[in-house]
Amino acid sequence: MFTSTNPSDIKEVIATVPEASANEILTVLRTAKTAQKSWAKLPAPTRGRIIANVGRLVESNKEALAKLITKEMGKVYSEALGEVQEVVDTCDFFLGEGRRLYGQTVPSEMQNKNLFTFRMPVGNVFIITAGNFPTAVPSWYIVPALLAGNTVVWKPSEFTPAVANALTSIFHAGGVPKDVLMTVVADGAQTFAALESGLKEGVINKVGFTGSTAVGKKIGAKAGEYIQSACLELGGKNPMVVMEDANIDLALDGALFAGFGTAGQRCTSLGTLWIHESIYDAVLAKFAALVENAAVGDPFKDVLFGPMISQKYLDNHLDHLKMIQPHHKVLGSSATGRITAANPRKGFIGDPEKGVFAHPVIVAGIKKDDELYSTETFGPLVTVGKFSTLDEAIDLANGHGYGLSSAIYTKDPQNVWRFREGISAGMVSINNSTSGAEAHLPFGGNGLSGNGSRQSGIWVLDQFTRWQSMNWDWSNKLQKAQMDLIEIKHDPNFLLNI
Ligand code: UN1
Repeated sequence: MFTSTNPSDIKEVIATVPEASANEILTVLRTAKTAQKSWAKLPAPTRGRIIANVGRLVESNKEALAKLITKEMGKVYSEALGEVQEVVDTCDFFLGEGRRLYGQTVPSEMQNKNLFTFRMPVGNVFIITAGNFPTAVPSWYIVPALLAGNTVVWKPSEFTPAVANALTSIFHAGGVPKDVLMTVVADGAQTFAALESGLKEGVINKVGFTGSTAVGKKIGAKAGEYIQSACLELGGKNPMVVMEDANIDLALDGALFAGFGTAGQRCTSLGTLWIHESIYDAVLAKFAALVENAAVGDPFKDVLFGPMISQKYLDNHLDHLKMIQPHHKVLGSSATGRITAANPRKGFIGDPEKGVFAHPVIVAGIKKDDELYSTETFGPLVTVGKFSTLDEAIDLANGHGYGLSSAIYTKDPQNVWRFREGISAGMVSINNSTSGAEAHLPFGGNGLSGNGSRQSGIWVLDQFTRWQSMNWDWSNKLQKAQMDLIEIKHDPNFLLNI
């Protein structure tokens, strides 16, 4: 059994759900695989209408779902509402795709012959997602996968099973058959064992994973053994570069939201704030003051951030605090670590003893050799460093090998274009924070952040469909491509004589 609790009040149990073994997951994978053929036979516009129903139901259950997210996972309620809106947006985008899902007609090099392309579903899809976005990120996989004619087995985070069950029930209420979307809660070891047997047996035809780079490597490698490429959305150490001509207040608004929103537990959260050396001291002081004065506490109140997702995420954050070195300057709060009565935070809203709350931390003076420079911290910890030229900033922004999101604040278009060209991240923000991507632009990263797969918008269709090409020769004779060339009469030596 898995028991999820409210991270603001860990004594409050939110849900107790059965824990699936690898064998049970395999049974579910087989069931979904069997259902796939008839689901794919349903016309895509009809599947689109089902996605439309799901979108409307998510919309009418928006507050209830957002409340459950805040209770089970701990993000502030306004962010939870935004997350649910992202599911609605995803449904709204893909309901129309049901009437497109375009293939092409392509000219043939021969007469009386036509060429076409069709998008074919890949089959049964196994989706494994994290606890930080318990509805939006799963919907980025589930919605396009279903729309394209695939069945889905979803393994949500064991920290958010109540949200997962609620979302699944909305899909079913919207008209998705029960065996077309199936949800199983399991631990990492059982999930990985099921992944391996499912790939071997052919009941998993695509894997989608959002989570850490370490686990993503293992999943990607396992899928590769079975000649599949997983859709991987992994970690980030997202840089934000503040040039000397930047609007500083705007940049710091962005840094505060990206660094500490969701308690820093977004894959798009701010990693390092890189400040131009000429304004470093002043900007750092302003940032420190903003963080010191930010409200932390009860996520149903007006706070910057609430609790960590669970004790595990708090422990992870505490481990990262051990990476702080003597040459670093720690700012942002009167203390670090867990917020308690004995280790209080000024202006804390609520009772910190009840939940797993952490002090926000700024670690200034970060250098390329520091462990924190290249560690995704996934908590309320932002590192800050300085640079002298844009080239140096780009080098620092890329040097750790992650490449998910990035941002630059500047008024100079030359800086914008040089940054865009030089940054290795899959997503670039100009005068905007690293987090808060819209749901219909390609989402994904490079290097340690992902294998190039992209989610969202039309781009994710390439994850959940395979191109089938068809040629139809109606000439009633065997025409041979590349061999039966039509002769072109021409004069290759022609020059104008004027
Ligand atoms: C994630 O943390 O895995 O861009 C996704 C953002 C959100 C999604 C984050 N729309 O911050």
